[in-house]
Amino acid sequence: MHELMYVSSATRVMTPEDILRILETARRNNLELGVTGLLIYHHDHQQFMQLLEGQKEVIFKLLERLKADDRHREVDVMYDGPISFRGFPNWTMAFRALPDTEGRTQSSGKPMLSSDVRQVFDRFRASLD
Ligand SMILES: Cc1cc2nc3c(=O)[nH]c(=O)nc-3n(C[C@H](O)[C@H](O)[C@H](O)COP(=O)(O)O)c2cc1C
Repeated sequence: MHELMYVSSATRVMTPEDILRILETARRNNLELGVTGLLIYHHDHQQFMQLLEGQKEVIFKLLERLKADDRHREVDVMYDGPISFRGFPNWTMAFRALPDTEGRTQSSGKPMLSSDVRQVFDRFRASLD
């Protein structure tokens, strides 16, 4: 089992309908792929953060598809590595919108460290359990 976290920039402001459409596709596909995880959308910075869990080959194949999606760009992998169990076993793709006061970013708009990204995911995981 493998996990991967990335940050990306939305190519336009995402409406709730846009997010729903992404989640519908993600959940349908991920159920078949055995992929679980969490998607975060940061409204003010128009940024996504996503954590994906599943078989390594499946995750990297999905990453290639994600990189080709024109709803976001600069897909920046912050971390990937093996895991012995899933952090989001019950979620084909959980979702949280991040309020502007959270997820402090650099002027570039990217979180400063992969550990910052990890902290954001950990906090949301705790709130889902
Ligand atoms: C931020 C973001 C996150 C996404 N997450 C997933 C995902 O977890 N799984 C997935 O299959 N597609 C995800 N997608 C959609 C894929 O980029 C792609 O559109 C989709 O996999 C195509 O599937 P389809 O051929 O069944 O329409 C995401 C797209 C965006 C913009």
